[in-house]
Amino acid sequence: MKAKIAVLAGDGVGREIVPEAVKVLKVVAEKFGHTFDFAYGDVGGQAIDKVGVPLPQDTLALAKQSDAVLLGAVGGPKWEGLEYSLRPERALLGLREQLGLFANLRPAKLYEVLADASTLKKEVIEGIDILVIRELTGGIYFGKPKGIEALPNGGERGVNTEVYTTEEIRRIAKVAFEAARRRRKKVTSVDKANVLESSELWRRVVIAVQKDFPDVELNHIYVDNAAMQLVRNPRQFDVMLCNNIFGDILSDEAAMLTGSIGMLPSASIGAQVGLFEPIHGSAPDIAGKNIANPIATIASAAMLLSYAFKLDREAHAIEEAIVKTLDLGYRTKDIHSAGSRLVGTTDMGEAVVRNLK
Ligand code: NAD
Ligand code: IPM
Ligand code: MN
Repeated sequence: MKAKIAVLAGDGVGREIVPEAVKVLKVVAEKFGHTFDFAYGDVGGQAIDKVGVPLPQDTLALAKQSDAVLLGAVGGPKWEGLEYSLRPERALLGLREQLGLFANLRPAKLYEVLADASTLKKEVIEGIDILVIRELTGGIYFGKPKGIEALPNGGERGVNTEVYTTEEIRRIAKVAFEAARRRRKKVTSVDKANVLESSELWRRVVIAVQKDFPDVELNHIYVDNAAMQLVRNPRQFDVMLCNNIFGDILSDEAAMLTGSIGMLPSASIGAQVGLFEPIHGSAPDIAGKNIANPIATIASAAMLLSYAFKLDREAHAIEEAIVKTLDLGYRTKDIHSAGSRLVGTTDMGEAVVRNLK
């Protein structure tokens, strides 16, 4: 097939890990006879430095005209003082909103050979295979009113609003049940229905949607308990259905079950053009040192092939190359343990490329 992929590396480690994923995609194209046209764009802090805004119009246009978007990460201390509408993170939120990407899939699966890399005990994490489904264009991230306003007493008031409509909940719940049907048929819906009205509606709508999926088991869990259960007994979870902010937080926690946040890919879907990115950020503390783990981004490229282009065989080949590379003992610093082979970002990328070829 012939396809156009927008590549937005962004900031920090984004600039190191994305080239590794592109290398892998190029090998896939060669090996399976496809033509991928890579079109590069500016995003985040790097775009601010270049043209003054985090999401330039031509980057948005590029994303819209492409068949899929591969993104690295945005943000960093350099841009932290900026007004919110001009911060790098707005680019990501803008892309999600403008592309209509309401469903974010974050699979946390343990590669057996990494059981020792996690900070949790092997017997707790063995066999985990969790899919966090995060609602991505609603909730407190986008709800209004929002902002910081001056108070008569000289103080200020910071406001954000958690809002969900029936339709927003219905469509993300459907994604979760459909995904569960292809897995172990169990959805755990995460909410705070004991306190928040938006969660009460969330729970009610999820229960209603389940009527169309009688073969899928549905459970509800409060988010505080969910955070605890994830480290107590993560194997109990199959699909975790979360609102925007709960999914953001719990997926970082789930990432650590797999050994490192540098392992977790994601797919953001919902409309024509999907966006694929690691769940981690620009990792300013390790940026520019060639030590970041590129696997989350390479695995995101595999999700891109599978979700955007239905190239499941090709996606599987990438996953197998990752497994083989890990089996051979290659480890970046974040997943390194005694006896394994410590490598940098580019060496890890090249090892995956070799094992794919
Ligand atoms: P982070 O995910 O960037 O880093 C958290 C920790 O994980 C750091 O210690 C980092 O070194 C480590 N880490 C992250 N990715 C890694 C990798 N590939 N390999 C090895 N270690 C890795 O989160 P943060 O420090 O809270 O945020 C830094 C910046 O990134 C902020 O500006 C934030 O807004 C932004 N951010 C962007 C995204 C995104 O673009 N999708 C996601 C999260 C955070
Ligand atoms: C993520 C990030 C983003 C989010 C930020 C950078 C806007 O943490 O993709 O998980 O909160 O969604
Ligand atoms: Mn996050």
